[in-house]
Amino acid sequence: MPKVTTIAELHLFQRQNRMRRSWSLVPTMGSLHEGHLQLIKQAFKENKVTFVSIFVNPTQFDNKADLENYPSSIEVDLQKIQAIDPNICVFIPSVETIYPDGVTVKKYDLQGLDKSMEGRFRSGHFDGVATVVERLFKLIKPDVAYFGQKDFQQLQIISLLGQSMGIQICSFPTVREQNGLAMSSRNRRLSRDRLEEAKLIYELLQWTKSNFSSHSIYDLKNIVVQKLSQTPNFELDYFEIAAEHNLLTTDSKKEGVSYRAFIAVVVDGIRLIDNMSLN
Ligand code: PAF
Repeated sequence: MPKVTTIAELHLFQRQNRMRRSWSLVPTMGSLHEGHLQLIKQAFKENKVTFVSIFVNPTQFDNKADLENYPSSIEVDLQKIQAIDPNICVFIPSVETIYPDGVTVKKYDLQGLDKSMEGRFRSGHFDGVATVVERLFKLIKPDVAYFGQKDFQQLQIISLLGQSMGIQICSFPTVREQNGLAMSSRNRRLSRDRLEEAKLIYELLQWTKSNFSSHSIYDLKNIVVQKLSQTPNFELDYFEIAAEHNLLTTDSKKEGVSYRAFIAVVVDGIRLIDNMSLN
């Protein structure tokens, strides 16, 4: 399987495959789970060349411990990609390759999409994401890139970036554990008991969806927040309902707007996020 780590190796692979358009990219931070694998399979099915990048981006972590504890399993990741297809090109750059001028973050005008929810709780996170994704787009030059909907706010921000760079962004629904918990590389740090209890996040999103037409947003939020405040081991960062197109959180519904519920909970020090479309 082609595995490239330097820009010279990447350019060589690109030259060898320049006639085989279209090119797709699945950016990841490794520790691949079924959600990543489905994106990779889809990208490979729909394009002539598929790149998977594995890079734990330091500039999107506002919390040093979260970066240090981020799980890593490169050999297993490579085996999983190889099992999908040995022609997939894996790009594993060093920090110096991604940040040749030092580890700095660009400031973006993300049209307010970065202001609510994750943006409020993780200062600078989306500038860090946009910085690394823009760099990967410029290095790899994909026609299309694939992202999961679990990080819906990230997806909307990357869609904006993709638009400005002429790169198509494809998204896929969140893949879930058997109990409904959204798959995430962070899940593997949860104990068996917490993993089971964390299904509550999905259950609350589903409950919100089922009751969306009969309750006000204000009431829905109060009920969910109340429920979580009574749940031991769960610390709520936010539960919000926001319009899908601009991600502005709201307490009241407007006709013709698509809404989504967004949640972030810290369970035993591990931060879990999820979202669900409501109407
Ligand atoms: O979603 C992720 O894994 C990361 O935020 C991404 C898009 C690979 C950028 O580092």
